[in-house]
Amino acid sequence: MSDTLSLRRPDDWHLHLRDGAMLAGVAPESARHFARALIMPNLVPPVVTAAEAGAYRDRIMAALPAGSDFTPLMTLYLTEESSAEDILAAHGSGLIAAVKLYPAGATTNSASGVRDFDKVREVLEAMAEAAVPLCVHGEVTDPEIDIFDREAVFIERVLDPIRRATPGLRVVMEHVTTSDAVDYVKTAGAGLAATITTHHLVINRNHLLVGGMRPHYYCLPVAKRESHRLALRAAATSGDARFFLGTDSAPHPVDAKESACGCAGCFTAPHTLSILAEIFEAEGALDRLEGFTSLNGAAFYRVAPNRGHITMRKGDPVAWPARIETGDGPVTLFDPGFDLHWRVEA
Ligand code: NCD
Ligand code: ZN
Repeated sequence: MSDTLSLRRPDDWHLHLRDGAMLAGVAPESARHFARALIMPNLVPPVVTAAEAGAYRDRIMAALPAGSDFTPLMTLYLTEESSAEDILAAHGSGLIAAVKLYPAGATTNSASGVRDFDKVREVLEAMAEAAVPLCVHGEVTDPEIDIFDREAVFIERVLDPIRRATPGLRVVMEHVTTSDAVDYVKTAGAGLAATITTHHLVINRNHLLVGGMRPHYYCLPVAKRESHRLALRAAATSGDARFFLGTDSAPHPVDAKESACGCAGCFTAPHTLSILAEIFEAEGALDRLEGFTSLNGAAFYRVAPNRGHITMRKGDPVAWPARIETGDGPVTLFDPGFDLHWRVEA
């Protein structure tokens, strides 16, 4: 087997870049290997209007290393007060690539999310009409529902009803973590796709809880049991174009993770491609890695694949830092628990 791999420059279809000092610290990590990323809008306060997205885009551009040609694809945070006019104008002008739906309270900085889905019905209809994709954080927030069941229940109670009520709406189920979600995407008609993170291909809930609690493996949606991880791995490496990479790389300062109430999020941007190459190789699917990282998402979002390629080369184990320093404090990298042999060549 060849020890080099050429990939179209990849896209990350779900990325948290934060703001301020953290943005300055992490943006170069994604820009090094990725040509584009879909930027999540869950800042405090959230990125709700086109004007806010434009200003955030400018701050991201200013945080990139000189000479970088990384393109942030912006999103708007859907609230019950969002304006269809503003969304359509922002999409029409090319400023945003999608709108993000967070059920209120589902995850980090989601307090402004949607509580009553009837209140966004008209906006969703306008989006369907104009083919603006809706990215969905697919977990119910009902306190009665067990956290490990929240994705499966969301499909049945929220996502499927929304899709039936809004024919033509293009939906990405973000960071899927269950075989239920994989099955739902596979059986749905056109217009539904899913992102899969790097870390959910690696860990199950035992990694999080056995032998001590590992806060750096805590993310939302939380990792599920092993059978679900295997379903995700099968979907990601299957070549099915409805599944593509959204790293959900979500940096938090180490003291916010290692805390009595630790934040959710795994930071994978720096070594995601090395981890993915290892996984795809283990699955005998290296020839499908490019579809997952560089082609399938672009096709769903109806943009051309990036020009240019990256080369990955296999060799001695890759040294990656345990943490990176940012102006907001150190951020711990996700530890896949196995050696990485594939490096992206400069
Ligand atoms: C994300 C974050 O930290 O912003 N955390 C996470 O665990 N994935 C939010 C999210 O995408 O749910
Ligand atoms: Zn996320």
